[in-house]
Amino acid sequence: MPQTIAVLDFGSQLTQVIARRIRESQVYSKIYHFSTPAAQLKAEGVVGIILSGGPQSVYAKTAPHPDPEIFKLGVPVLGICYGVQLMGHFLGGEVELSKAREYGHGHLTIKKPGKLFAGLPRKLRIWNSHGDKLTKLPPGFVATAVSENSPYSGIEDAKRGFYGIQFHPEVFHTERGVDMIRNFLLRVCGAKQDWTTKDFIAHTVADIKAKVGKSRVLLGLSGGVDSSVAAALLHKAIGRQLTCVFVDNGLLRKGEREYVEALYKRNFKIDLRVVDASALFLRRLKGVTEPEQKRKIIGRTFVEVFEKSLRSIGGADFLGQGTLYPDVIESVSIGNNPASLIKTHHNVGGLPERMKLKLIEPLRELFKDEVRQVGSALGLPREVVWRQPFPGPGLGVRVMGDITAAKLDILRNADAILQDEMMASGLYWKVWQSFAVFLPVKTVGVFGDERTYDYVIALRIVESIDAMTADWAKIPYDVLQKISSRITNEVRGVSRVVLDISSKPPATIEWE
Ligand code: XMP
Repeated sequence: MPQTIAVLDFGSQLTQVIARRIRESQVYSKIYHFSTPAAQLKAEGVVGIILSGGPQSVYAKTAPHPDPEIFKLGVPVLGICYGVQLMGHFLGGEVELSKAREYGHGHLTIKKPGKLFAGLPRKLRIWNSHGDKLTKLPPGFVATAVSENSPYSGIEDAKRGFYGIQFHPEVFHTERGVDMIRNFLLRVCGAKQDWTTKDFIAHTVADIKAKVGKSRVLLGLSGGVDSSVAAALLHKAIGRQLTCVFVDNGLLRKGEREYVEALYKRNFKIDLRVVDASALFLRRLKGVTEPEQKRKIIGRTFVEVFEKSLRSIGGADFLGQGTLYPDVIESVSIGNNPASLIKTHHNVGGLPERMKLKLIEPLRELFKDEVRQVGSALGLPREVVWRQPFPGPGLGVRVMGDITAAKLDILRNADAILQDEMMASGLYWKVWQSFAVFLPVKTVGVFGDERTYDYVIALRIVESIDAMTADWAKIPYDVLQKISSRITNEVRGVSRVVLDISSKPPATIEWE
């Protein structure tokens, strides 16, 4: 059993970020329900406890409280934000009720570095987000740091290994916050730094095996990073008990289906069923021009096809999904009221309930970059692990207006050239997304000696961190020139290429 740092979750959206910071220090951690009995923590080899933040007041009727025995285990405890109030409340200090929450930047002055602030500058910028405040230290504690709004921004009882900080060290707005967490793990708890991606994989594989037993798991493979890594991980754990379904909806990029088949069937020997439903999708989309309507039709048809394929494989007990942590909590921004940002979303909305399947989501605690590391460690090629995002409705939202097989073909060919040149110049890996859009506008051109009257392709190439905002990428002219001349020369039906130079907002990344 690895040495474990327990993170008790009191409801903060940042709990997973704390866990991530611990993983970044190569220390094993596990998130526990706030009420987990101290005896269980002890039995599971916990060598340190972190009390997370949380939105409540310690005095609230429904306030989450830990088992008080955790303070008697002889194990170091770090209270963060609400965690500090809990320490005050349970260990004999005083907490002042406050109506307003305090948000934003503050300045920390370290008075007594101790183990927690060892090696850090005396003055640091910090990020606050708290309501109540500690107003009297519990016996045995001293103040170690102050900020403009609290004389107890940092506190400690070094003898018992109890530390508390009023601000959030886990967010990057707090300078050197990561070092504070690392100090707690290494200097205070003496934790070993032996937790790697390989260990995550081994641990998750064991978890999957225990959860799934002899049952069958069905997973919808989209070819994107998340479902690909989830498939590889599930396959490593349960092999042929996993069946992946890849739906060809007729709205895929050029060569996509063959690529996915070659990768998973041939290289990974995954039981992959490719369902060609392109005719059905195109029939249902015929004449539909309104973007939301298109999305609805594509979504509904997907669920139908997927359900049918479940029946054809003889049923399953679990539905595997590549849900990541940011999918669960869409934003970890704490600048606004965090509760208002919560949006649970599954990659395939509502499917598990409809299909009466239990969910298995092996990537649920990870962030995208961690998923990429896991994918690489599992042997997935760079092209998959670092793939640009591709929307579920596929080219359906990149052919403006009504969708026909002929227009899709034109778009596919133009898009393939764009990707080709982005790869050749190495820019593919540097931008967030690069794709072509089909515009149902005919314009005049000349090809050889002939007058043409053909469609327009728009190039959409953007830079972004999280797709919430985006800027058009400043691609060198020579690369753009090559893309444009190849498209107009090689793709029949296109006489003109234009470049989209809009930022998000106000424009979205996709055109529909
Ligand atoms: P927008 O167009 O809203 O896109 O700026 C933001 C990001 O989300 C992707 N996107 C989707 N992904 N299903 C998806 O899985 C969808 O329906 C969908 N719509 C947009 C888009 O490609 C961009 O990365």
